[in-house]
Amino acid sequence: MCSLHFNLLKLLVLFRLTDIFSPGFCEIPKNISDLISFGEKVRSLSFHLLNYTNQQKEYVVLAPYTLWNLVSLVAFTTSQDSWKQLHKTMGVSKLKGNYFNSFYNYVNNLMTTIHSRASFKIKRVVFYDSRLQLTSNFKDSIMDSGISLKMLNFDDNVLASDSANNYIQLSDSFLIPRRIIFDSSDFKETSMIMSAVIEFEADWAIPFDYSLSDRYVLRQSGRFFYTDIEWLRASVLELSYVSDSDFSMLVIRPHHGVTLKDVITNLALNDLDEIFQELYSDGLKEILIELPKFSLTSSLTLNDPFKSMGVMDVFSPDAANFSGISSDNLYILNIEQRVTVTVSEIGTTAIAYTPANVAKSTGRNKIRSSSPFIFLIVHGPSLTIVFCGKYGP
Ligand SMILES: *[C@@H]1O[C@H](CO)[C@@H](O)[C@H](O)[C@H]1NC(C)=O
Ligand SMILES: *[C@@H]1O[C@H](CO)[C@@H](O)[C@H](O)[C@H]1NC(C)=O
Ligand SMILES: *[C@@H]1O[C@H](CO)[C@@H](O)[C@H](O)[C@H]1NC(C)=O
Repeated sequence: MCSLHFNLLKLLVLFRLTDIFSPGFCEIPKNISDLISFGEKVRSLSFHLLNYTNQQKEYVVLAPYTLWNLVSLVAFTTSQDSWKQLHKTMGVSKLKGNYFNSFYNYVNNLMTTIHSRASFKIKRVVFYDSRLQLTSNFKDSIMDSGISLKMLNFDDNVLASDSANNYIQLSDSFLIPRRIIFDSSDFKETSMIMSAVIEFEADWAIPFDYSLSDRYVLRQSGRFFYTDIEWLRASVLELSYVSDSDFSMLVIRPHHGVTLKDVITNLALNDLDEIFQELYSDGLKEILIELPKFSLTSSLTLNDPFKSMGVMDVFSPDAANFSGISSDNLYILNIEQRVTVTVSEIGTTAIAYTPANVAKSTGRNKIRSSSPFIFLIVHGPSLTIVFCGKYGP
C-alpha cells in the first residue's frame, strides 16, 4: 500500500555545521576512561572500514567519527537481529547509547571551539519527506542529540535538494560551495536522509619549507615525534597542527616488505592510545620529513563494507525493522560518504561534498615515487579519528 517512496532511508555523511550545541552538551565527562573508550570505538570502526575498502581502491579517505555517530543513532532504533548486527560494529550497548552519544557531543564541542588558523565545523541534519510519519520518540532523540530535523517535499527532488543546500549553508559559512552539498538525485527514491557536513581546516604547527619542497613533495627538517613500532610493523610520525588546536596528523608507513593491509589489521586490533604512548616515550627526534603534496577525493558507498562486517538486515526491505523511527517500512538504501582531504605546505583542508557536480581530482599532484602510507587526523584529548585515509596501493 505504501508507495516505494516511503520505504527507503539513506544515510549520507557529507561534511558541515555549528549552532547545534545547547549548553547541556558542554558538561565535562566525569569519566576519562570512558572518553578514551569512545575514541577507541571510532578507531575500531575506522580500520574495519579501511580494511574492507582497501581491496578496491588505491586512495581512500573516510570520516569515521561522524559516520559512527549517524549509524549509532539509527542503530539504537532497531530491534532484534538488526540491532545485534549493528552492535558489533558500534561496540556500544543500547543501555549506554545515550551515554556515548553525550561523549560525541562533548567531543564535538571541544573540536568546534574557535582557534585561529584552525577550524572545525560540523552540521548534522535529518531531512525527511513530508509524507513520512516519524515517531515522537525518534524526533525527541534526534533533537536531544543536537541534530536538526527538517521536513521537505521529496517528490520535487530538485526543490528539495535546493532547500537542503540552503538550509545547511544558512546556519554557517562553509568552504564547500552550497550547490554541491546535495544533488537532486540524492532525494530520489528515498524518504529520509540523515546527513552530516564537516569541514576541518588547520595550519601546520611548523609549515613545510618552500625552499626544500617542490611541486610534488613537501619537505621539512626539524624536531618531530617519530618512532618505529614493532607490533604495528610500521613507522609513525606526528605532524601537529597549530599549537592550541589539539589536532594532529599521524603518518604511518609500513616497514619494508610489509603491506598496508597488514598494518591496517594491526591498527584495527590495537588501541590508538598505545601508539601515542610509544611515540611520546621515544621523544622528539631531529629528522627530515617528506610527504607528498596531495588532494584526495573519495566518494564511497559503504553498504558492502558494513555487510562484510555482518550488518545485513538493515539493508533489506524484508528484514529491516525501524519501527522505532516510523511505522512505515524503512530500510537503509545507502550509507554514503564523500570526502576530500588536501595537504599543502601550510596545512590541511578536509571537507565532504556531493561528487555529482565536481570533477574527480583523485590522484592530482600524485608523487611518482612515494611509498604508500596511512594517515589519521586525530583529535588528541579524546583520541578520536576525525578523518583517515590511505595513500597508494
Ligand atoms: C569509569 O568507567 C569505567 C568503565 O565504564 C569504570 O570501570 C570506572 O570505575 C569508572 N571510573 C570512575 C572514576 O567513575
Ligand atoms: C519490530 O520491532 C518491534 C520492537 O522490538 C516489535 O514490537 C515488532 O513486532 C517488530 N516488527 C516485526 C515485523 O518484526
Ligand atoms: C579484513 O578484511 C578481510 C577480508 O578482505 C577479512 O577476512 C579480515 O577479517 C578483515 N580484518 C579485520 C581486522 O577486519
